[in-house]
Amino acid sequence: MSSVIKLRGKGLSRIINSKVMLSPLAGVTDKVFRKLVRKWAPDSLLFTEMINATSLKEGHGTQKIKQLELEQGPIGVQIFDNRPFAVSEAAKLAEDSGAFLIDINMGCPVKKISKKGGGSALIKDRLLAVELVKRVSKAVKIPVTVKTRLGWDNKEENIEEFLLSLQDSGATMITLHGRTRKEGFSGAADWDMIGRIKEHLEIPVIANGDIKTPEDAFNCLKKTNADGLMIGRGILGSPWKIGEIDYAIKKVKGFKEPNVEEKLLLIIEHLDELIKEKGNHGLLIARKHISWTCKNFQGANNLRNELVRAINVKEVKELINKTIERLKTDQTLLI
Ligand SMILES: Cc1cc2nc3c(=O)[nH]c(=O)nc-3n(C[C@H](O)[C@H](O)[C@H](O)COP(=O)(O)O)c2cc1C
Repeated sequence: MSSVIKLRGKGLSRIINSKVMLSPLAGVTDKVFRKLVRKWAPDSLLFTEMINATSLKEGHGTQKIKQLELEQGPIGVQIFDNRPFAVSEAAKLAEDSGAFLIDINMGCPVKKISKKGGGSALIKDRLLAVELVKRVSKAVKIPVTVKTRLGWDNKEENIEEFLLSLQDSGATMITLHGRTRKEGFSGAADWDMIGRIKEHLEIPVIANGDIKTPEDAFNCLKKTNADGLMIGRGILGSPWKIGEIDYAIKKVKGFKEPNVEEKLLLIIEHLDELIKEKGNHGLLIARKHISWTCKNFQGANNLRNELVRAINVKEVKELINKTIERLKTDQTLLI
């Protein structure tokens, strides 16, 4: 089993030296979070949050692609929009900023986006979806990929035909979240169906949905025969997860999950980077990461409640440092 993914772009072919990718996650996979994930996953493709084409050109989205070339490793920029010209222009800017590839979001179920014809609505407007892929592939040299779902309302919509048309239009990789738009996040991701679809396509297919552990990853690869895996919710509070799964797939020994003290220090590191990048607003963003990370050890609930109420960085650090001191004297607190 090859541990690399080959993308044959129109202008540039690219190789990703890992089968495990970080999902685009709105409100999560910003530059600071990607830097943390990268510590454990030097080879993986990591995605930005989805960015609207207009905001990428002249709004807050411009910040989200700033200096991608200075980040280590491959970064994919995901764009959501349904206007071919706007997406092509945005894609060119992302390419100039150092994007490794451009991904077009054809899976987002959020009503605000699909009502305007973007995200998962493109599964229904197949001619427009094809036009988008064609236009963007023509506009940039880097590979253009698509992330989508198994269908809009149900799984009888001949999604294979849709994906084949995207492949013919220039898409160089398809990521499939194993649910329909209607299913949202309910039920289990249908890895069997991803496997059946994979058989029809020549370009790499990435399986996504419900992969949280190395064991899930092996099961999913077995069921789908996918070329790679994308991890979304499994990374929340566990930025080492992509690396952990990558190590397991590559059969590399030596991965060590951070212990409680290291996880607490990670919270401080994350907070410091957020404050550096976003000023005081960084504390607000840090709170959700804190509540995801601060769990599964004795006293975690109490500490989490105190941390998310802390009114400044100093208080967060004091609470964490106090807990670390306690850990040193009371080993029973460690998991
Ligand atoms: C908080 C959150 C934000 C998300 N943002 C995006 C996004 O910006 N673009 C996208 O294509 N999918 C987005 N998704 C969907 C995930 O990328 C992924 O497809 C989905 O969570 C299923 O994978 P998982 O089971 O590994 O989480 C988001 C999901 C969550 C939970």
